[in-house]
Amino acid sequence: MVAENQKVLVWDPFVRVFHWSLVLTYLVAWVSAEEWASLHEQAGYFILVLIGLRVVWGVIGTRHAQFRDFVYGRATTIGYLKSLKAGTPRHYLGHNPAGGWMVIVLLLSLVVAGVSGILIGDTEHGLWKEIHEASANLTLLLVVVHISGVIAASLMHGENLVRAMLTGRKMRRSEDV
Ligand code: HEM
Repeated sequence: MVAENQKVLVWDPFVRVFHWSLVLTYLVAWVSAEEWASLHEQAGYFILVLIGLRVVWGVIGTRHAQFRDFVYGRATTIGYLKSLKAGTPRHYLGHNPAGGWMVIVLLLSLVVAGVSGILIGDTEHGLWKEIHEASANLTLLLVVVHISGVIAASLMHGENLVRAMLTGRKMRRSEDV
């Protein structure tokens, strides 16, 4: 039997290092965008490498790092959103269904921004540049929603998710999914 109400390791070291490296590199990419092209490009490549590694880890990694642990089907996701609206969301040890989809959309948006950035090449204008700017803006919007979601979920469940992403540990509850 699995013990309840005890701290368990949810985010392995890879996930934690990935997350905070991504946050840092994303910040560097934003700050350098206008006036430090070489740094901006390096940050973009690094983000793509980080995501490539995360995708591999999402298949072969530890339990809560795996995509199959947090990419839920339609019914579960809609059910979760309804329970959220009703103010009675279930507690998930790993990513909840809304958070899981946010992870996927965030990663996709970053990949589009990264790849379109590479494809701009030396041109000043063009479709790739437009796609790059649109996806970069979309990513910023997603990040704002992501951080708001993390704060909201932390308050709703009375747990500090930011600390959990630092230590890797969360309190397991009897009602956990
Ligand atoms: C200071 C700002 C940020 C904070 C406090 C933060 C916090 C968190 C937390 C607590 C989680 C785990 C959510 C859960 O418990 O289900 C998480 C996951 C995640 N965050 Fe952030 N985040 C921040 C910024 C960002 C940024 C800027 C990005 C992307 C550009 C990002 C991308 C992700 C991704 C991809 C995951 C999933 C991690 C994984 O499963 O590998 N975060 N974040």
